[in-house]
Amino acid sequence: MILSGKARLAGVIGWPVGHSRSPRLHGHWLDHYGIDGAYVPLPVQPGHFQAVLRVLPQMGFVGANVTVPHKEAALALVDHVEPLARRIGAVNTLVVRADGSLEGRNTDAFGFIENLRQQPAGFRAAAGPAVVLGAGGAARAVVAALIDDGVPSLRLINRTTERAVELAHQLGGQTRIEVVDWQERTAALAGAALLVNTTTLGMVGQPPLPLDLAELPVDAVVTDIVYAPLQTDLLQQARHRGNVAVDGLGMLLHQGRPGFAAWFGVMPEVTDALRSFVGGA
Ligand code: ATR
Repeated sequence: MILSGKARLAGVIGWPVGHSRSPRLHGHWLDHYGIDGAYVPLPVQPGHFQAVLRVLPQMGFVGANVTVPHKEAALALVDHVEPLARRIGAVNTLVVRADGSLEGRNTDAFGFIENLRQQPAGFRAAAGPAVVLGAGGAARAVVAALIDDGVPSLRLINRTTERAVELAHQLGGQTRIEVVDWQERTAALAGAALLVNTTTLGMVGQPPLPLDLAELPVDAVVTDIVYAPLQTDLLQQARHRGNVAVDGLGMLLHQGRPGFAAWFGVMPEVTDALRSFVGGA
């Protein structure tokens, strides 16, 4: 990579940020498309986030990604908030406008749905009811994505039921969201066309997701937003019984595309080479 004095600058702001795969992801695209630009990790403590956000345009950055623990703070601090980011309640992408103001977007919903669409069989949320496990930040993006893609109904299941009730209340609108108790999760899979795990269960260092798939139709799609490990226990179980199982790495890769396009002027592609480069990190 050779940078000129005119190189466009972007990065990822997080604390800690060392585990982030975004520098690999965007670095690969910058190389691949031969762009005069750089994407760097920006370790920023919560107490310094506001100051860093303000100075980013002044330092010549074209934008940045925002990750844990700053996504909600970013929503409150940016000058303009895209409606989808407001609905989700978090900003993961910052774009510096021509006048130096900061626009906050959320590309997680795009990443989630686009990853499913890229599967050989294609995917349409409108095909049938969806079951979503979890009610954290990731679940908010997934639920918004499914609603916008026309899901007919949704069952939302979380260990802490009140969080699911609140999410359903905030995002539901015209779409029927039924909150189901965590203990009833097995029965709730009957008739579903899609099952999504947005909880942290199954992630490296966490116990597997305790879920019996017996009631799930075999033509349902199963996806996990956990991508470390790539093949979670849930996905292995699903594949074993004949369901299409989609891992979470694709969501991470696709969510990066709109930001890259806004900063560097090229809508990048997700390829097998990219998957192994970022997935192998
Ligand atoms: P994120 O923003 O990444 O979604 P989060 O807001 O911390 O992270 O949400 C984590 C999700 O995993 C929540 O739905 C959480 O359930 P609670 O709302 O009850 O905390 C879920 N989760 C984490 N550990 C869990 C466990 N041991 N059993 C069941 N659900 C768990």
